[in-house]
Amino acid sequence: MAHAASTPRAPLAVAVLVSGTGTNLQALLDTVHGQEAEIVAVASSSAGAPALTRATERGVPTAVFARADYSDRAARDSALADWLADRGARLVVLAGYMELLGAAFLERFGGAVINVHPSLLPAFPGLGAIEQALQYGVKVFGVTVHFVDAGIDSGPVILQRAVELPSAGSPEEVLAALRPVEHALLPEAVRLFARGALSVDPANPRRVVMSPKSAPGVESGG
Ligand code: GAR
Repeated sequence: MAHAASTPRAPLAVAVLVSGTGTNLQALLDTVHGQEAEIVAVASSSAGAPALTRATERGVPTAVFARADYSDRAARDSALADWLADRGARLVVLAGYMELLGAAFLERFGGAVINVHPSLLPAFPGLGAIEQALQYGVKVFGVTVHFVDAGIDSGPVILQRAVELPSAGSPEEVLAALRPVEHALLPEAVRLFARGALSVDPANPRRVVMSPKSAPGVESGG
């Protein structure tokens, strides 16, 4: 088609999974939503998650998939995946989602599930990453956005940013420093995905490659 190169892409349909406060969801709602992406669904593992209110306030459909309401995790995953697929989700973003997703769920959204984690992975995966880092005594903290695989915070890294905090003494202090980084990196990763700018190095499937024009901070010019 003669005009294919200049035809704007349709926004990417994105589902966001949450468990708590939802500041990362808010960052997505305030940046990419209605732009490169359309957040079509927000699902929570907990009925009381304040994140649900943030979604509702923007007219985004919400649902709760609590582990306790299903016979096992696979049944929960299956119901969750059905709901997200019904909403047309093409990318699933874990934004403070504190549950593991099984292989069947990940296969269904193959290569299109990403997570934000408050450490420089592979250091300090799992729960309490900031507390783990403080306990270890590190001087450099950070944020990782990565593709999700069947392990715990073990998938290929998309974006990472370090924050030097040589005197950090409390989780609150570290979290306050990491928040703005999370709120920048997660939307940036969604933008890159939406533009089709992310691929995996065939020589090393651990390595995510982004097309040079789309690197963070580099304007593509249109
Ligand atoms: C964020 O700090 C995110 O990195 C972390 O939970 C917080 C959710 O905050 N995720 C993990 O630790 C996942 N292993 P939010 O609800 O305000 O977005």
